[in-house]
Amino acid sequence: MAESFEVALTVNGTPRTARVPARRLLSDLLRHDLGLTGTHVGCEHGVCGCCTVLLDGDPVRSCLMFAVTAAGHEVTTVEGLAEPDGTPSPVQRAFRECHGLQCGFCTPGFLCTVTALLRETPRPTEDQVLEGISGNLCRCTGYQNIVKSVHRAADLLSGSGGSGGSSPRNELSGSGGCGGSARRNETAEES
Ligand code: FES
Ligand code: FES
Repeated sequence: MAESFEVALTVNGTPRTARVPARRLLSDLLRHDLGLTGTHVGCEHGVCGCCTVLLDGDPVRSCLMFAVTAAGHEVTTVEGLAEPDGTPSPVQRAFRECHGLQCGFCTPGFLCTVTALLRETPRPTEDQVLEGISGNLCRCTGYQNIVKSVHRAADLLSGSGGSGGSSPRNELSGSGGCGGSARRNETAEES
């Protein structure tokens, strides 16, 4: 039987422990041992970015990292991005307002990546946004609304996000700062 190791780490602000085999992936530790299934696994080869979580604040691919390597570190998964009372983070709000998701499979990875991106670069240019999300693949959205979501999140984080952007009325009109194509995607989502 494979030797196992006790791994102690902090996940979403809470100390957690698990006994795992040496080759247990961090993604499997999170999903299977700790029950945090918000972290998605797509390719398991470091290509798609779906499994991205924050390790001490930096985005990492949890499918490429052994759980034992995360011992003693602080991991933030998509479950940890919202406020403790469940209020969505600005990045989560922006993705909702700007229709940055359709099936949502890639979304946890994008949310973690964008959270780190905006912490590092609060006002990214278009090129910086494109580069910042280039490691995350989405099969649904065509990326336009994801890019808009990143800019919208930057607005929300800087406090210049406008008023009432999350109301259905504003989502339809695009007045929440997302631009016109949000409407096109909303139609696609509903069909
Ligand atoms: S599942 Fe980790 S990068 Fe695709
Ligand atoms: S929203 Fe479906 S893969 Fe991105």
